[in-house]
Amino acid sequence: MRWSGHDQNEEADNMYNINRYLNLKEKLKELRTIALTGIAEAGSGHPGASFSAAEIMGCLYFQIMNNDIKNPSNPNRDYFINSKAHSAPGYYATLSLVGSFPKEEIKTLRKLNSRLQGHPVRFSEMQKHHSVPGIEYSGGSEGIGLSVSIGICLANKLDKRDNMVYCLLGDGETNEGQIWEASMAAAKFKLNNLIAILDRNKIQQDGFTEEIMPIDPIKEKWLSFNWEVVEINGHKIEQLIPELLKKPVDRPKIIIANTVKGNGIKHMANNPQWHGKAPSKKHLPLLIRELEGEYMISPSIIAGTDGIGEESLKQKIATAERYGADMIHLDVMDGKFVPNSTFFFDTIKKLRDGTRLPFDTHLMIQNPAKVLEQYIDAGCDVISVHAEACSNEQEFEKINTKLISSGVSPGLAVNPGTELPEWVFSYLDNLDVIIIMSVNPGFAGQKFIPEVLPKMKRAIPLLRERGFKGYFEADGGIDLSTIKQCFDAGCRIFVMGNAIFGNSDVEKRIRDTKFLLDSYLEKSLLDESQSLNLEEDWIKGRRNIIEQFNLAR
Ligand code: DX5
Ligand code: ZN
Repeated sequence: MRWSGHDQNEEADNMYNINRYLNLKEKLKELRTIALTGIAEAGSGHPGASFSAAEIMGCLYFQIMNNDIKNPSNPNRDYFINSKAHSAPGYYATLSLVGSFPKEEIKTLRKLNSRLQGHPVRFSEMQKHHSVPGIEYSGGSEGIGLSVSIGICLANKLDKRDNMVYCLLGDGETNEGQIWEASMAAAKFKLNNLIAILDRNKIQQDGFTEEIMPIDPIKEKWLSFNWEVVEINGHKIEQLIPELLKKPVDRPKIIIANTVKGNGIKHMANNPQWHGKAPSKKHLPLLIRELEGEYMISPSIIAGTDGIGEESLKQKIATAERYGADMIHLDVMDGKFVPNSTFFFDTIKKLRDGTRLPFDTHLMIQNPAKVLEQYIDAGCDVISVHAEACSNEQEFEKINTKLISSGVSPGLAVNPGTELPEWVFSYLDNLDVIIIMSVNPGFAGQKFIPEVLPKMKRAIPLLRERGFKGYFEADGGIDLSTIKQCFDAGCRIFVMGNAIFGNSDVEKRIRDTKFLLDSYLEKSLLDESQSLNLEEDWIKGRRNIIEQFNLAR
């Protein structure tokens, strides 16, 4: 994905790019799963802070930082200073995913003789096997990491290195006076090699930040200390990545990342009780299922009565974004592969500047390999081609290699009457999404073909068993009456055209869909808790949610 014309920083223009958006989303899910497993095994730890900062840490380590974990003392590395060290389980999970240590080791979290202690300890070459490669700073006492970051920034400047220092701050942590002293010093020294990220989840150890020690208006405070300040949603990687990439020009920069403490697990979300409490081991399978239930809504903008003129498309994107869509589904049809034609890469290019939402492009065209480059350049984040449009596996391989090397998430789509080709198993790691069409492609507003459900139910578990970690996308006739079956079958991206734009109240349609899926997942977790004999326990823990969704038995 790319867009241009952002702020004064020339360098950042046209360079913004999420590398394999869907793959990154998958890794973030794994990060939460690993962190939660560690906390449950340990019986203590901080899920709340780990989950509010998951996207921040994941984006930094998986995509932004120049940080070769096999060579953790490389003087040219970018630094991550985890000042709010309580997010340690999430931090360890992130490091395990970049190869710092085996993922299994998370089960030693907080145990005697483990190197994964409650508060991270700085890596030392002399203690190679007893410390964690990648950890730059021993945290735990709050309020100090920004000062340490400044020291590193100044040293790097003296050494004429242009590596960056990223410092993660907690909002409760900014109660400490030292943060503000450091903030003045960073501005005085014009540290444009420093980006601080404030995990603004509004909860600290003993309650809500604004009740304990109000820090708002936090943006104005940092501005008055002469920092560059931007404010974003800290769970949206399409907002985080460009801001983390864009280096400040003549002063330090802080990203105020609005987050939700415990984000990902409903009863932990925005709940001060889960700042530092562990779920029990027996609940872990349910929590992991909840994480696996995360889904995305991808509205198809060819739908609706307003047509597909550029203005109308822009309008639909803006409305979908305002009301909580996760991606935008772009149906490209050439009138040859399908009996209808819509728009091409030039239109997508024009739409790109209007939104940060990822573009989920579905190419229903002949010879996709010939025009692939233009769609990559237009700023698509996901590009799916049809198996039926590739003359053989070699053609798909060419497309796949090109997409991977361009940082675009590759997808493969099949028509309702087509089985997934046998060669799909050769792309388990290099495929981010599989679209199992539930209408014959060509038009929005068609009726869902129920015969595709058995195909989904056959193919999805088989691919999972073989190790496919990517997404399954349901596309065609998805509405409130068909979405649950596709969710059950394992789909987690839902394309919705007519169900969203075929009605004037887009907000209600998106809200109703999310409500339906959320309560459906909740109900299936309750059923599972019953089969695991955890029902009472689980219901107690989820009482609020149950009341909210009116599912009490
Ligand atoms: C069909 C397209 C779909 C379609 C979705 O050829 O690939 O994305 O537009 O629209 P609905 O949800 O109305 O079927
Ligand atoms: Zn489509």
